[in-house]
Formats: sequence, C-alpha cells, structure tokens
Amino acid sequence: MNLEIDRNRLLAEIEALASFSDAEAPAVTRIVFTPTDLKARAWMKARCEEAGLTVRYDAIGNTFARWNGSAPSAAVVGTGSHIDAIPNAGKYDGVVGVLGGLQAIRALQRCGFHPKHSIELLVFTAEEPTRFGIGCLGSRLLSGTLSPDAAKKLTDKDGAAVEQVRRMVGFAGEIEDVKLPAGYYKAFAELHIEQGPLLEREHVPLGIVAKIAAPASLRVVIEGSGGHAGGVLMPDRHDALCAAAELILAIENAARTSGAVDTVATVGICEVFPGAVNSIPSQVRLSVDIRDTDLARRDAVMQALETEGRAIAERRQVSIRTELLNADAPGDCSPLVIDALSQSCRKHRFTFLSMVSRAYHDSLFMGRIAPVAMLFIPCRNGYSHRPDEYASPEDIVRGTLVLAETLAALAA
Ligand code: GLV
Ligand code: MN
Ligand code: MN
Repeated sequence: MNLEIDRNRLLAEIEALASFSDAEAPAVTRIVFTPTDLKARAWMKARCEEAGLTVRYDAIGNTFARWNGSAPSAAVVGTGSHIDAIPNAGKYDGVVGVLGGLQAIRALQRCGFHPKHSIELLVFTAEEPTRFGIGCLGSRLLSGTLSPDAAKKLTDKDGAAVEQVRRMVGFAGEIEDVKLPAGYYKAFAELHIEQGPLLEREHVPLGIVAKIAAPASLRVVIEGSGGHAGGVLMPDRHDALCAAAELILAIENAARTSGAVDTVATVGICEVFPGAVNSIPSQVRLSVDIRDTDLARRDAVMQALETEGRAIAERRQVSIRTELLNADAPGDCSPLVIDALSQSCRKHRFTFLSMVSRAYHDSLFMGRIAPVAMLFIPCRNGYSHRPDEYASPEDIVRGTLVLAETLAALAA
C-alpha cells in the first residue's frame, strides 16, 4: 500500500477551518452552536461529501461521515475529534484529528484500499466545556456516560438549555437516541496535538497514549456582603472576593502538595459581582478544574476544596457552595489500537513515546464503549489553548500517515 498524504491540501484545510472564528487571527474562538460553529460544520460536511462519505448528524449534532466497507453490518472503525475551540484558542486542538482523519481516508481511497469494516470520521459536539459547562458533551452522550435528562437540562450563561439550543440550530430527533449500541465500534483512534511539552523536549515525533487522566470540574459560589468601598470599615467586611482568593490558593496548594506532579488544579473563571471599583464584592463564582492520573489523589484535592472552603466560610462569615459538574474516572487505552499504531510507527522507524494524556478527549468516553487509543504529535513549547499553538507540517503529515495505516489495519 503506497499511502500518500496530501500535505498541501491538509494544511490549506487547517487554515480554511481556522477562518471560521469569532476571534481575530491567529486566535480561534468557535463555541458550540454559534453561527460560526454552524458555518464551520457546514464547511466540514461539504468536505466529507466531496470525499464520497455519507454524512449523518445525531440529535446533539455529533457528525458521522461514513466510508462504507464491504461488510456493512460489521463493527465500524472510528476516528475523529472536535472542531469547537475555547475562547482565544489556536487552530490545531481537535482540528488535526478531524482534518487529519479526513485526509487519512482520502489517502486510503486514493491508493485503492477497500475497507471491510466501514470507517467513520466523527466530529464530536462540544468537546470543550465553554458553553454548557461540561466537556465532551457529544461523546458522553454517545457512550451513555451522561444521561439524556441531565444533558438536556444543561444551560449556558444566558440560561438557554441544551435541549432548546440544539433544536433551534437544526439538530432534530431525540437525545435518548444518541447513545450508540454496544459493539457499534470495533475500534476508535484519535489523532491530536500533545498539548504538553514532552515530545518536543525528548525529540520524539510521536506519542501513543496508554492512559487518559481523570478530569473533574466544579462551580463554586461564594456569597459575602457588599457595600460602599469607602463607607464599610475593614472589621465589618465579608468580602466575597477575598474569600475566593484564599480558596483559590488553597486549591493550588492542595494540588502542589499532593506528592505527584500528575495532580493539576486550575481556577479558570472568576466572576465578581457587582464588579465596580468602589463596591465590595458581594458574590464570586469560580470554575474549578482538577485532574490526575490517580483517582484517589484527584479526589483528595476535591476534598481539600470542601474542607478549606468550610474553614474560610467560617472565618470570614461568608457562604461557600460547591456544585459538582463532573468527576470522571481515568481511561485506559486498548492494546488492539495501541498495537496497530505501534506497528505503523515501527514500519516507518518513527520513534514514539508511550504517554499519559493529561488533557481529556472524546476518546476518554469512547473508551467506555469501544477499544480506543490516541496518537499524539508534538506542539511547539507544549502550547495549547492559546493563539500561538503550533504543530509543524511534518509532524501533522507524519501523524496522519500513521493514522491512515492504523485505520487500514483495523478495517481490513
Ligand atoms: C480539553 O480541551 C481539555 O481541557 O483537556
Ligand atoms: Mn481543547
Ligand atoms: Mn482537543
């Protein structure tokens, strides 16, 4: 099989997709179900149809672009990722797995490969938690990890519910029907940028993911009491932001002192009310993201948040309420897919690292219903979720080639 990846087309498509953005280039912002996301999805659908794939959407807007195999009832081989992008992101996160996956399929078509198992390119809905507060909405529903009822009720910051928004933008059908039957996928492989510095640092071009770290996220609401910034004397204050500051540092400290570098905790959103320079903050809302490869250590940080929160609330006479959005178990990748990826790497004498994914991915949830593995390519300085995210053409093409061979091996 003489596979050739069309480098120019792949790079041009990455650029084209980046032009669907609500931020000025080089930043990319593409939030799920916004007009920009819908335009990008339409563009993506046209590219898939151009490649002769049959495209369908489910009720949450997950996109399945299918290349029918000679045994149409056999379990499907899947690949893909996401095209939504957090505010002020780059152009490679998720996109490399989607456009690389499409390019891998085109390369297989060009060289005359005929799959036995159908190959499906998936574009998952809302891998990013930006709009509805929870990451991997599409793959959680596909895998049955999130109940349809819970999904429907998720709301965005304007109070619009998933159920209402997805219907409004044209995704019909019932959320109950999104879950895939057991055994639908024979295997699933996701190509992605590493989003960390290890491959670049070790001068290794590829990573094969063996395990995906366990994510958790919470919202915290701190209620103090507001008032005039001049009139209320310091002993009389119950400043919600000062309490939040203590809590943020307590969360950081719990992660830093867990005993392992694998523990990470981030407070990425801090909303202050009423938000006036001469008004004491009466309410603060925090969004907290805690992850670890080890479930018990991750949970210990969540526990510390609760314990420290109670102590701070008591000391400062404020109320601190936490709401758990998700706390997922880590995921193990499958030897079936890892072997297929490794064999392709060995054939080309591409060196690779066996890695842990510290970011979460749709593969974490696809792994609940299918054998999965991920292939990482380096990204400059490990930067991701920022506009200067960058992966080199050589690395993107190399990853796409290995993905194509892996799909061929799994679908033959
Ligand atoms: C995915 O974008 C993550 O936050 O890991
Ligand atoms: Mn991301
Ligand atoms: Mn991603």
